[in-house]
Amino acid sequence: MTSTKASRSEIETRLSELAPWHFKIELLPGVWTQNYNRNDYSDPDQRSVGIIDPAEMSGLMDVVLPGGMKDKAFLDVGCNGGGYCFLAHEKGAKECRGFDIRQHWIDQCEFIMSVKYPECRSVHFHVADAKTFAHKSAYDVTLFKGVLYHLPDPMSTLNRLCALTVRAIIVDTVCRSDIPEDTLVPWWESKTHVMSGIDGLAWFPGGPKVVQAILAWSGFPHMRTVSWRKGTPDQRHRGRMRVVAFRHERDLEAYDASGKSR
Ligand SMILES: C[S@@+](CC[C@H](N)C(=O)[O-])C[C@H]1O[C@@H](n2cnc3c(N)ncnc32)[C@H](O)[C@@H]1O
Repeated sequence: MTSTKASRSEIETRLSELAPWHFKIELLPGVWTQNYNRNDYSDPDQRSVGIIDPAEMSGLMDVVLPGGMKDKAFLDVGCNGGGYCFLAHEKGAKECRGFDIRQHWIDQCEFIMSVKYPECRSVHFHVADAKTFAHKSAYDVTLFKGVLYHLPDPMSTLNRLCALTVRAIIVDTVCRSDIPEDTLVPWWESKTHVMSGIDGLAWFPGGPKVVQAILAWSGFPHMRTVSWRKGTPDQRHRGRMRVVAFRHERDLEAYDASGKSR
């Protein structure tokens, strides 16, 4: 289906069929994905899906490496509806690959691509498990956002992803503020909710020190904490952190210099 072939009402019908949506994306003027979510899903696995604007990653994409995303190969792990891949594509990435464990999200990616980017041949999506994902390509930038705390063995998985990454990896995760910064605590999550992992067992890190240790062990010793918000008791101590790490010191120096010039 392309934007020239599909009518507005056909697009709206498909938007409803493919809900719930996590990424806020405008498919046609005034036609936004999130407006097709419902409040009354009978299936609990489809409820409580938060909405996020992928543009929140725009500033970091622009400075993560010299030249931003232009001509870079980009990998998005747990890509959901593809919002960050499409953003990287719009910023000139030469290749974008997103994968997710759920067909639900990959169907959304394919639909958005068919409507918004029908001529695009450089953005690819498929269903895969981060625990076993292997690909012949190497990626300049890997995004590992919202997935670390859905994995039974986040150390091995992050280590594998680093091996596929040439220059920079962005790790963004929920963290817990009621445990020491350098520890992990287990929790048990749904295996079937559309936003969860599939294994049941998962781990929250206490803070950036956990992620930094795994990244340094995996060949990415040059890093910065981009943000770290601690969770309050009302939030069940759940905060959020974002770390960017580089294989080569010169890329960290360029990243630091870009901050000074901003
Ligand atoms: C909390 S959402 C984060 C979505 C998106 N990356 C973001 O940051 O907005 C977690 C996503 O990871 C996917 N996921 C969970 N476990 C996964 C796994 N083992 N391999 C690949 N994707 C996984 C889920 O299906 C879901 O789309």
